[in-house]
Amino acid sequence: MPPQYLTARPGAALKGRTRAPGDKSISHRALILGALAAGETPIEGLLEGEDVLATARAMAAFGVEVERLGEGRWRVRGKGALAEPGDIIDCGNSGTGVRLMLGAAAGFALTAAFTGDASLRNRPMMRVLRPLGEMGARFLCREGGRLPLSLKGGDLRAIAYRLPEPSAQVKSAILLAGLHAAGVTEVIEPDPTRDHTERMLSAFGAAVEVQDRPDGRHIRLDGGQVLTGAPIAVPGDPSSAAFPLVAALITPGSEVTVEGMLLNPLRTGLLETLREMGADLVIANVRDQGGERVGDVTARFSPLHGVVVPAERAPSMIDEYPILATAAAFAEGQTQMLGLGELVVKESDRLALTVEGLSACGVTVEQAGESMSVRGAGGGNHRVPGGARIKTHGDHRIAMANLVLGLAAERAVAVDEPGMIATSFPGFAALMAGLGAEIAAS
Ligand code: S3P
Repeated sequence: MPPQYLTARPGAALKGRTRAPGDKSISHRALILGALAAGETPIEGLLEGEDVLATARAMAAFGVEVERLGEGRWRVRGKGALAEPGDIIDCGNSGTGVRLMLGAAAGFALTAAFTGDASLRNRPMMRVLRPLGEMGARFLCREGGRLPLSLKGGDLRAIAYRLPEPSAQVKSAILLAGLHAAGVTEVIEPDPTRDHTERMLSAFGAAVEVQDRPDGRHIRLDGGQVLTGAPIAVPGDPSSAAFPLVAALITPGSEVTVEGMLLNPLRTGLLETLREMGADLVIANVRDQGGERVGDVTARFSPLHGVVVPAERAPSMIDEYPILATAAAFAEGQTQMLGLGELVVKESDRLALTVEGLSACGVTVEQAGESMSVRGAGGGNHRVPGGARIKTHGDHRIAMANLVLGLAAERAVAVDEPGMIATSFPGFAALMAGLGAEIAAS
């Protein structure tokens, strides 16, 4: 039986060099675009977390040859089209998996049914069903656009769509459907979100036009383009690297380097914020890896101070707010995070659970509408009390953010459902232990 709790105990400084697991966003896309493409897509460094494994199984169910060759080494052999799956596709915990697959599958004359775990079945799908429906796809779903749902695809027409919410998943679903739609598909993003789909489409030989205009970023794509498979080397996930890096910043005497981390500017909002808070972060060995910028990031223990994190920055660090809130708990003064509306519809209501976790650990934190402020304990003789058992509601990032807090608090912090951490960060506890952290089953 998996352990019921994982406990992080305050202890020694963290030291060493490590690598974060492969980027989750790029891993999903490598499998899905590889499946849509004609020919071979060899992948190195694929994240072998539960979310991505669910997508790999799904692509096989759509008739694509998906093979694991070794640790993180996979090969996808696409035929330039998806076939009708013989059973319901289970996307597990993964919003990215299901939303991107809905877009990818909508372009073909097939019927496919999708479901997921309890968290995913509760997440809003209307945001993708609406534009895909405008393109001509048909759906049958539960009340409020919830999973399970069935899609009937094929015969799509291109649309121009202005994103009502800053979501790379919605943008990507529309672009993937647009590949097989008649005409030019255009997505307009008032606030740019992660652009891995656009970059990978170009790497697979598609013509994608990206233009920054006063009303936002315009992304245009001609229908009827066939992708050609291409090798993908997946960089380290900055959303996972955030946990050891913040652990080093708040644990006295620490110095940790995460090598090969993705530095795409649409993913580095946390680094920018931590630097504004006074974090000693050094980026070295910056290089290009298959069209994405990567580098080695070193974090040293730093006295942090509170800042205001503007709403415009949210898309570039949307998955990092729980761990930023942990950092803020150790800073001197108040950290205010604005524009957190999208946090509420993640794997859990992350805004509520971040507030709940910090409060349980004795941190003063307030939520007002879509913003959160954390009063840090840093600067004086105050410490973060810790000493709580946290209900994570199966949210991997809530679990890891609370465990990192426990490493630097006065008393240990335990989290439930630790098995869920493997959705994005398999081997998290072992990696942290390798740096000197005391995290163990309890
Ligand atoms: C992702 C986009 C973000 C992010 C998620 C991964 C992606 O979600 O939270 O973890 O790979 O496109 P939204 O598109 O809902 O903002």
